[in-house]
Amino acid sequence: MALDIQQIRSQFPILQRQVNGQALVYLDNGATSQKPQMVLDVIDHYYKNYNANVHRGIHTLSQEATDKMEEARVKIQNFIHAKHVHEVIFTRGTTEGINLLATVLSSVIKANDEIVITEIEHHSNIVPWQMLCERTGATLKFIPLTADGILDLTQLDTIITKNTKLVCVNQVSNALGVVNPIEKIIEKAHQEGAWVLVDAAQSVPHTPVDVQALDCDFLVFSGHKMYGPTGIGIFYGKEAILNQLPPFHGGGEMIKEVTMEKSTYACLPFKFEAGTPDVAGIIGLGAAVDFINAIGIQAIHDHEDQLVKYCMEQLSQLDGIKIYAKDAPHAGAISFNLLFDGVHSSDVGMILDKKGIAVRTGHHCAQPIMHHFNIPGTVRASFAVYNTKEEIDVLINGLKTAIRMLG
Ligand code: ALA
Repeated sequence: MALDIQQIRSQFPILQRQVNGQALVYLDNGATSQKPQMVLDVIDHYYKNYNANVHRGIHTLSQEATDKMEEARVKIQNFIHAKHVHEVIFTRGTTEGINLLATVLSSVIKANDEIVITEIEHHSNIVPWQMLCERTGATLKFIPLTADGILDLTQLDTIITKNTKLVCVNQVSNALGVVNPIEKIIEKAHQEGAWVLVDAAQSVPHTPVDVQALDCDFLVFSGHKMYGPTGIGIFYGKEAILNQLPPFHGGGEMIKEVTMEKSTYACLPFKFEAGTPDVAGIIGLGAAVDFINAIGIQAIHDHEDQLVKYCMEQLSQLDGIKIYAKDAPHAGAISFNLLFDGVHSSDVGMILDKKGIAVRTGHHCAQPIMHHFNIPGTVRASFAVYNTKEEIDVLINGLKTAIRMLG
């Protein structure tokens, strides 16, 4: 059954606003999604009615806040199909989740070990691994891109070997919107005894994700790209592995006992959650999961898939446009450029902004992909459940203006 997109849109107050005198056409969901009223309401309700610190107080407010926070953890467990609720760790976002793992692996990774990433990663899934390799003397290898901009798995056997300890890959590229063949990569990594971290920042909002079916060892994502607030994210890890790893930050909540000489650590998930958490953010993320579940993540996927296909078709009919990795499967985003001398993606973005259309331009925190194509950046249109084909028509008309002005 087709979704009632107008009813869904009516839940997002920001979609009513105008930008530069035009109705907002928000196509920058890869950067952050907008928030439905129900997410705004639960955050407001928390601060007005039961704001308190969690897991610390005997008083009613603290117990209510703790219960709501732990309810949100269960919602997220079910949403990603984690086996245990204590495998769900709250972080500030995808970047912190990756840095958490890179930090705690400092004492695990040794000089002769290898870590494998890919050429299609966001900087947040590159830089922490470069830093870990600098600290430990381990070697960083990468799976390259083909000329078309999809992962080239032909040399996988020489890249992932018995020396590989960890493979890190995104499920969907933030810069190109390409869906990566992570199942094959996970299978190969496990054959060699390596762990796999999946960066799911751009997949969890757009497609069903089942950590047990994927059999990934770690998975990270952000709340704000899936209709939740900023500043909250998830680090998932398999229980048996998390139990082997040392804590991340030291401080309150992550301890069992502290003396002036030494400390022992709390059990999962608290071992990885030092300090007062973002209670409002966690409860807001729980409401975002409720919002997605009320529609159905598969229905969201199917609607966005139609938008991606329609946008591809319409873009392909314009002269002078290059779509990156055009023939690869996409989820939630398309990247392209106007192929005119001296035209930068930001020139296109500024013309679109004058028409109320929000897209992201530039290198999308994925400079190695831009180096691969020998370009400074791209224009990226990225979608959410509230987008419509009519909005894509507005984008295409805006691009026709840009072509007339810049071509
Ligand atoms: N990582 C976000 C993006 O791709 C900010 O736009």
